[in-house]
Amino acid sequence: MKNILVTGGAGFIGSAFVRHMVAEHPEYNIIVYDKMTYAGNLDNLLPVSDEPNYRFEQGDIAHRETVKRVFGDHDIDTVVNFAAESHVDRSILSPDAFVHSNAVGVHILLDESRQFGIERFLQVSTDEVYGDIEPGTFSLEDDPFLPNSPYAASKAAGELMVRAYHITHGLNTIVTRGSNTFGPYQYPEKLMPFFITEAIDDRSLPVYGDGKQVRDWLYVDDHALGVATALFNGEPGQAYNIAGEHQEENINVTHRILDLLDKPDTLIKHVPDREGHDLRYAMNCDKLRTLGWQRQHTFDEAVEATVRWYQDNEWWWRKIKTGEYLEYYKRQYAARLAAADGV
Ligand SMILES: NC(=O)c1ccc[n+]([C@@H]2O[C@H](COP(=O)([O-])OP(=O)(O)OC[C@H]3O[C@@H](n4cnc5c(N)ncnc54)[C@H](O)[C@@H]3O)[C@@H](O)[C@H]2O)c1
Repeated sequence: MKNILVTGGAGFIGSAFVRHMVAEHPEYNIIVYDKMTYAGNLDNLLPVSDEPNYRFEQGDIAHRETVKRVFGDHDIDTVVNFAAESHVDRSILSPDAFVHSNAVGVHILLDESRQFGIERFLQVSTDEVYGDIEPGTFSLEDDPFLPNSPYAASKAAGELMVRAYHITHGLNTIVTRGSNTFGPYQYPEKLMPFFITEAIDDRSLPVYGDGKQVRDWLYVDDHALGVATALFNGEPGQAYNIAGEHQEENINVTHRILDLLDKPDTLIKHVPDREGHDLRYAMNCDKLRTLGWQRQHTFDEAVEATVRWYQDNEWWWRKIKTGEYLEYYKRQYAARLAAADGV
């Protein structure tokens, strides 16, 4: 392993992985390959932009010719695929891009990896492939896939192609399945950065339904470390869950954010729920622990660090909450907030 292509490396979790690898592993060259969708942001990579073992290439994982060219130009031997459309609500509004990047894109990346002789291919996946699970239960790596949203289904499709390339072609693959991730540099459409930045501006927080949906909350640096651990120590053909091992209802997370910002609970507006909203995800991640991974942050300290980061880094998010973001906000929330107000 020498030249590692990190696809989707300009996004939220991918950039955390890149910052970690560039700083901690100068023996590897890290080449980011990113389409730069609305979620790609070179500001996320500013901390490493001048490092000698970092490079950036713009391109789509579903564009075969560009993938081929970049593999050759950088003599790539390892692929870590974070590239994806990642937001469930957008997959309900516009699913085409999800099939393009999360299913077709993974297929093209795999096919070129096989032909190029890539030594190891790591696919970053999600706990959402397991679907909604009963209280008191925890998903294990061999549990069946029961995805319920177009996002989760497209991620499951990508994973199944990874499996097929391992079994059929002997490609050295690893899959990681992370849980609900939060932290600095997250596009402010996802619950934590959305609510933190809205609350800073004293705007309403649209909570879906009663807010009692349970998620396992994972700090982004723990997720990045989990991916690195699986990349270095994982067994070919295996999948590894990565969880924060802290389950919390969305409404409790919302109250916690308001407390930390010293803002009133009256900002909360219960709005009509997301269609097909899964009630609970939770995973067992003992298998990853056997490779030497251990979460480094408690939920409490990680939420506080996250809130403080958005307070201290308005330069990062204020310019994002314009243009395309506002269009999306209107499509997703205008009618819901009007319904909540009884308009
Ligand atoms: N955010 C979470 O809570 C979470 C949890 C578990 C797993 N994941 C998975 O982790 C990965 C990263 O998630 P994230 O939250 O950082 O997402 P993100 O939306 O912040 O970033 C995705 C990145 O991928 C790029 N991209 C999208 N389509 C592309 C394509 N066709 N070709 C090249 N680049 C493309 C975007 O420009 C962006 O930089 C995804 O695969 C996601 O499914 C996310």
